[in-house]
Amino acid sequence: MTLVAPSLLAADYMNMASSIKEAENAGADYLHIDVMDGHFVPNLTFGIDMVEQISKTATIPLDVHLMLAKPENYIEKFAAAGAHIISVHMEATPHIHRVIQQIKQAGCKAGVVLNPGTPANVLEAILGDVDLVLQMTVNPGFGGQNFIESTVKNMRYLANWRHENCGSYVIEVDGGVNAETAEICKQAGVDVLVAGSYFFRAEDKKACVNGLKA
Ligand code: DX5
Ligand code: ZN
Repeated sequence: MTLVAPSLLAADYMNMASSIKEAENAGADYLHIDVMDGHFVPNLTFGIDMVEQISKTATIPLDVHLMLAKPENYIEKFAAAGAHIISVHMEATPHIHRVIQQIKQAGCKAGVVLNPGTPANVLEAILGDVDLVLQMTVNPGFGGQNFIESTVKNMRYLANWRHENCGSYVIEVDGGVNAETAEICKQAGVDVLVAGSYFFRAEDKKACVNGLKA
């Protein structure tokens, strides 16, 4: 079964609570929250306090995507703020194994994220430790970009590795997801689709989620 995680990056910031309700009522499985620091990626978004506020109203798990330099400095804070899943970029730290352990110790599901330019085999040593692998299908930093087709190779690698090694992580994709690209990802073995602009621009949000899942 495919899960859908609307990205609040594309929500109506002046009416965040109703954007969250819309996602929940549409049948979304997670709320995807993009945290950007202006260093690791050239944009700024939400921080710890925003995650805490969201966690007070949300009824589905918070899927927190950290696009931060030195993510190890923020793990416990995001966990305390109510994150359920915390994902950190492979490219953002030389200590990915340590950070994954840190996320688990903080009581959250641990995810690792790959940029489109990073081959999936660099994850081999930690694939047995993570709960989730997030494959970026655009370069991180902005919503509304086009899906990068070459990332499908990584999705296939991750699905194969999981099959061959009885792995238990879920595979998530993020960026440029719509009805058409969702199909490509699902064929490649993806379990969770993040959708920002495609979801929040949809007239009929329930139909949008059902379409992505179908
Ligand atoms: C981009 C973010 C995405 C973004 C996706 O860096 O990680 O979560 O919201 O937006 P869309 O779905 O519009 O490509
Ligand atoms: Zn994201």
